[in-house]
Amino acid sequence: MDTFFNFISHITWWIWIIIGLALVALRDIIQRRHSISHNYPIVGHFRYLLESIGPEIRQYFVANNREELPFNRIERGWIYASAKSENNYEGFGTDRDIYAHQHIFINNAMIPYKVEDDHVNAQDRYFLPCAKVIGAHNKRRRPFRPASVINVSAMSFGSLSARAIDSLNKGCKIAGAYHNTGEGGLSPYHSNGSDVIFHFGTGYFGVRTEDGNFSMEKMKKLVEDNPFVRAIELKLSQGAKPGKGGVLPGEKINKEIAEIRGVEIGKTVLSPPNHKAFSTIPEMVDFIEAIAEETGLPVGIKAAIGKLEQWEELTDIMKNTGRGPDFITVDGGEGGTGAAPPSFADHVSLPWVYGFGDLYKLFQKKELEKQIVFIGSGKLGFPGKAAMAFSMGVDIINVAREAMMSIGCIQAKVCHTNRCPSGVATQSEWLQRGIDVPLKSERAGQYFKTFRKEFLEITHAVGHEHPCQFKMSDIELNVHDHNLSSELSLTYQYKKTPVPFNGMQSLKDCEYLGGNNRKHK
Ligand SMILES: Cc1cc2nc3c(=O)[nH]c(=O)nc-3n(C[C@H](O)[C@H](O)[C@H](O)COP(=O)(O)O)c2cc1C
Repeated sequence: MDTFFNFISHITWWIWIIIGLALVALRDIIQRRHSISHNYPIVGHFRYLLESIGPEIRQYFVANNREELPFNRIERGWIYASAKSENNYEGFGTDRDIYAHQHIFINNAMIPYKVEDDHVNAQDRYFLPCAKVIGAHNKRRRPFRPASVINVSAMSFGSLSARAIDSLNKGCKIAGAYHNTGEGGLSPYHSNGSDVIFHFGTGYFGVRTEDGNFSMEKMKKLVEDNPFVRAIELKLSQGAKPGKGGVLPGEKINKEIAEIRGVEIGKTVLSPPNHKAFSTIPEMVDFIEAIAEETGLPVGIKAAIGKLEQWEELTDIMKNTGRGPDFITVDGGEGGTGAAPPSFADHVSLPWVYGFGDLYKLFQKKELEKQIVFIGSGKLGFPGKAAMAFSMGVDIINVAREAMMSIGCIQAKVCHTNRCPSGVATQSEWLQRGIDVPLKSERAGQYFKTFRKEFLEITHAVGHEHPCQFKMSDIELNVHDHNLSSELSLTYQYKKTPVPFNGMQSLKDCEYLGGNNRKHK
């Protein structure tokens, strides 16, 4: 035995390395799962290593400023700088090819809109509420005018960390924006005082019975107990995965998540593709009206747009009966998610401009567009994109990933792995400790405020007081030559109906105004 240990202790370090490599090579040759390492023992491993760090190498060193998707470096940089209240300008002029196909031009006025000294925006350059009141047309008992035209889109506690939700909610409070809960129910982290839109999907989380059906009793109680819930959004679909249900794995369901969602600890829960509470459009309208009647709140629907037949049916019912949703959130196919199969994310549902244009035209044809508050989501969290969306008929913008970036998301694109390095889209206690809630909520709030300020500046440059006044002729789309580029009304074949607007002061005086201007609880 002594001789053996003596022999071992005399082997030099580089012989140990050779022995180690020989063992790896032997293992590579014997294993059958990876053909590359079987055919190229040892060196084959470099391929897997390089492939795993490829995204980071491309993001940091290779990709140019405008190249990456979903958000390029300039877009991310603008959000980071705006959120930190840093210099978010660009030097030396644009680095975009502004002659490129599909490039958007905003037609500025010869003389911009003048903000007089006694104007609301002279005192508060961030004041930019929605021009319409949600639920006013249908005479809901508690109508709501969102105090901000930009707000947090549906993202649940579960897909985002507790600290991320906490930061977003406090950021919304600072900026007077509303916070949409996403499908995971209303958590204590949504309850810091901002306006909240309660959103639910087929899992009915937070408002479900034990066997997974919708509970009106729970919905009523939720609304009564939480007066900051200002509207309810029924999810039909989202752009990243329309018609696809979801699975919440048992291991993710701890005591807290189980209580908030109303499910059992540790037991996997399915969100089916279909609702159990209704299966036809007339039944859906009954369901919407029942919730509105029981809670007194405006009720809307969220959907990604594809075929229009069932929307036709909905508009017919609305026209003939005067019943139906108070708002419609149109999500674009380019929308984000915590996790979706690539074939769904890439191909199912229309991109935002096409989907929204089709839907708006349909509502216009039935003369229903004035009574609906249209909300748009799908990479619209930039003032220039928002100008285009408003000129097409949108009243409010919802942002999900842009809001995530304002609190530190670095677009690592690993939301589906629970390993989000910034702590935003993970349930890992360790990773989310990186989020300093007071700091990040300031940043989220500042992103919303900077967005509104710059959006107002663009609006004034075009000669308007409020973005609701944007017309389709204010925006042009490049089709290769100025003589061929066309106003949005020609491109998308409709003209936006003017939104009634009596000046910014009238919005400020509105009794239903939300945010920090709330006149009553
Ligand atoms: C992490 C994450 C979670 C989301 N969760 C939901 C959800 O629960 N319900 C829903 O309707 N949409 C959900 N979405 C979609 C967003 O609400 C939004 O519609 C979409 O991302 C487009 O907005 P954006 O381009 O500003 O990100 C989620 C998106 C992300 C990134």
